[in-house]
Amino acid sequence: MTATLLTGIGELVTCDPHAGDGSPLGIVREAAVVIEDGRIAWVGAGAHAPAADERIDAEGRSVVPGFVDSHTHLVFAGERSAEFAARMVGEPYTGGGIMTTVAATRAASTEFLRANALRLLREMASSGTTTVEIKSGYGLNVSDERRLLQVARESSTETTFLGAHVVPAEYAHDRAEYVALVAGEMLDACAPLARWVDVFCDRGAFDEDETRTVLSAGVAAGLGARLHGNQLEHGPGIQLAVEFAAASVDHCNFVSDEDVVALAGSTTVATLLPGADFSTPAPYADARRLLDAGATVALATNCNPGSSYVTSIPFCIALAVREMHMTPAEALRAATAGGARALRREDVGQIAVGCSADLVLLDAPSFVHLAYRPAAPIVSAVWQAGERVGG
Ligand code: NIG
Repeated sequence: MTATLLTGIGELVTCDPHAGDGSPLGIVREAAVVIEDGRIAWVGAGAHAPAADERIDAEGRSVVPGFVDSHTHLVFAGERSAEFAARMVGEPYTGGGIMTTVAATRAASTEFLRANALRLLREMASSGTTTVEIKSGYGLNVSDERRLLQVARESSTETTFLGAHVVPAEYAHDRAEYVALVAGEMLDACAPLARWVDVFCDRGAFDEDETRTVLSAGVAAGLGARLHGNQLEHGPGIQLAVEFAAASVDHCNFVSDEDVVALAGSTTVATLLPGADFSTPAPYADARRLLDAGATVALATNCNPGSSYVTSIPFCIALAVREMHMTPAEALRAATAGGARALRREDVGQIAVGCSADLVLLDAPSFVHLAYRPAAPIVSAVWQAGERVGG
């Protein structure tokens, strides 16, 4: 077992509020970290660091936790740049393009889907992401939904069954039959490969009763609940997520005062997706209102070929600071500890003893540079479970 000492850290952002300066970011100055057996073995002042087998000098730079991207749709084929270009000159985003990706995905080989997902995961790792949730949702029949989850499972334990993404064209004549398929045979085939069940509860996707049917069946099958809600219009998504004690409700662009109160009094995280708001385009979710009310907020990329072909959490942090009125500290916490909460994980999203050794060395003296220097390649090195994976 080799112990590695990462020392000379000018600013260590632990995201452990019990550490360092006592702020929500738990900042330790002139710090060091020991990594052993894939875990954080020691955190503290560099002057008191124990001996180790290897030593890496951060040369005064900032180290932050690996980013936790709690909402992606990485297993797909094809791309929809023409749809994006049309939206930029006024076409609305309706979710209708999802079926374009379903057709391409069904036609693709498993080898292609795997290679494409790995390509995107490499992009994510190089920009500092070390934990990724991956949804199905571009198969929409029993065999393809299962195939997508098999591919997702090869790269992540955070896999989500999203058979209820939209109703595919072949069931347009009988929505009830499709909902019964999703909540029955499709769920039976997919549940062993998933940790979570998700429903796109919105205009043009699934209504309140349909969402209840799928979530209830998923929870009964042992899956944790999460939801896409309130992306395209105000609807029942947030209230349903709270009622089902979902780990997260994602998008949250159209939110009522009652929704804010419900979220603030719940364990459900509001996961905001600034890449989708940028790319659809949509009014940015009101992070300030949610945070001021006491809700827990996460930031994720929502990487998919339609609404958000974005792999970079630093880009999302910059957007959240500029467009959602989050402070840089709130945005970083939302992309680390917030994402971990959205996945009900305590071993990631923070740099604390016993946690997975997921760390990002920034080529900058402060984490604020994540928003201050958008698009600059400041991710210098990335460790996932103690292994160097990017930067
Ligand atoms: O989270 N809104 C639903 N699902 C995805 C979009 C998928 C697509 O357009 O292909 C999302 O934005």
